[in-house]
Amino acid sequence: MKDTTTQPLLEVTDLRTHFATARGKLHAVDGVSFSANSGQVLCIVGESGSGKSVTLRSIMQLVQKPGKVTHGSAKFHGEDLLTMSRREIQDIRGDRISMIFQNPLTSLNPAMTIGAQVTESLLLHRNMSKAEAAAEGVELLRQVGIPSPRDRLSDYPAQFSGGMRQRIMIAAALSCKPEILIADEPTTALDVSMQAQILQLLKALQAEISNLLIMITHDLGVVASIADEVMVMYAGRVVEKAPVREIFANPCHPYTQGLINTVRALEDSTQPLSPIPGTPAIPLGERTGCAFAPRCAFARDDCRQVTPTLESLGPDHTIACHVKPQMGASDD
Ligand SMILES: Nc1ncnc2c1ncn2[C@@H]1O[C@H](COP(=O)(O)OP(=O)(O)OP(=O)(O)O)[C@@H](O)[C@H]1O
Ligand SMILES: [Mg+2]
Repeated sequence: MKDTTTQPLLEVTDLRTHFATARGKLHAVDGVSFSANSGQVLCIVGESGSGKSVTLRSIMQLVQKPGKVTHGSAKFHGEDLLTMSRREIQDIRGDRISMIFQNPLTSLNPAMTIGAQVTESLLLHRNMSKAEAAAEGVELLRQVGIPSPRDRLSDYPAQFSGGMRQRIMIAAALSCKPEILIADEPTTALDVSMQAQILQLLKALQAEISNLLIMITHDLGVVASIADEVMVMYAGRVVEKAPVREIFANPCHPYTQGLINTVRALEDSTQPLSPIPGTPAIPLGERTGCAFAPRCAFARDDCRQVTPTLESLGPDHTIACHVKPQMGASDD
């Protein structure tokens, strides 16, 4: 009999996605593995181009040509999302797994009323009548803080501010109480105070439904305020994953250490700012060794020759690094 007690809600194994480009194969996602459970907030961080969005789009079968998922699995309750038929994955999207994207301007349809957009998934997946869905829509909009929601169902996105539009996106994404909510930089387009409000809202709603929230962000301040688990990506690979306290207190990958030093320096004006020297790697063509080696103060010959695999450092803490330096070891 299948053991469901220890089965993670989502288990991604050796996921690989590449884009055929004029310069060769671009390994956007190159052997990504992780698992996550209900009730968690998992933040994925990493520089621009590290494969965060493509990882999540791959899982949902949303990678567009010339992209191709070539390897791996993404098991949701033990069933592989990658091998599902178009019909099966469409049944899951917007219902059991839903997504919010960065820009509320482009992700809401400007020609549809917000009432229609918030109730779309309810009508599609929940077999509700229009009146039932509208009543639920009002409740959802109230929950995300839209004033006088009943009067606003027939308004269009352009009649709302950016922050309000993002709240509407969240209401739509949560309408079917998804087991997984994927949020790809949901606050980047907003000003700082609005960002904080939206994050609080997401966290509160996640706690209420107790689902899994997977959030992509560039911002370690956001990570500190919302994450339970943190996964750090570099050039298409996972370099470190750990609970949030552990990532900040005991970052072990030189790239994670660099990221954390950078934010510490920003918070403390007496510290010299220490951005990670060098430019992000582009994962093109054949790949051997650690992608971070050219920027790493600790790199040795084996780092350039042998690709490090993820290994366990302690409970829930994994890292892909041959050296695993102590924090501060590189300080002159
Ligand atoms: N349609 C595409 N065609 C070619 N390459 C692509 C395409 N989409 C993504 N890529 C490449 O795949 C890699 C990973 O991209 P991805 O969008 O996942 O990065 P990201 O970590 O989400 O970055 P950002 O923080 O800027 O959103 C990048 O090198 C990117 O240029
Ligand atoms: Mg992205």
